[in-house]
Amino acid sequence: MHHDCERILLTQEQIENRVQEIADRLNADYAGKTPLVVGILKGSIVFYGDLIRKLDIPVELDFMAVSSYGSGTVSSGMLKMKKDLDRDIKGRDVIIVEDIIDSGYTLAKLKKILYERQPASVKIVVLLDKFERRVVAIEPDYSCFDIEDEFVIGYGLDYDEKYRNLPYIGILKPEVYSK
Ligand code: PRP
Repeated sequence: MHHDCERILLTQEQIENRVQEIADRLNADYAGKTPLVVGILKGSIVFYGDLIRKLDIPVELDFMAVSSYGSGTVSSGMLKMKKDLDRDIKGRDVIIVEDIIDSGYTLAKLKKILYERQPASVKIVVLLDKFERRVVAIEPDYSCFDIEDEFVIGYGLDYDEKYRNLPYIGILKPEVYSK
């Protein structure tokens, strides 16, 4: 375990098993379709890479990069688009893949932006759901794990751009971010 971790919240094995379960559901729910799987950079990259390799339906891949701006540590509700999709989604089945839903601002805004482009459907897949922190009324369609309000790192999630490469999800030691 990394020395900045207080403890491991989710092991590689737990994550792998649960990602397989979610992939199984997607394979069944999207049978006969070719969804566009949209990864939201950067936090989702590890989850995204593992998830798409467990899908046996045909898929197309695309990415968006967004950041919330405003004051404070909770996202403000304003979303800045840093990278948009490469292709038109009109009439497409879109699956948004995110690492974490917290206040819900990011996914609520993203869903609205994508719906304005007249896709056939938009569904949300998240690895982690910090459900206690929700401010906006939005729920993911597929969620791997509900978690408490703790500072999680690893498996794509960062603190100050570090720890994304850890293969498990850990709780960051408070002394690391309170320095
Ligand atoms: C994280 C996460 C979501 C957002 C969730 O992104 O990937 O996009 O915060 O928070 P919300 O539900 O309160 O809006 P972050 O800004 O940390 O960027 P990153 O994916 O590049 O790490």
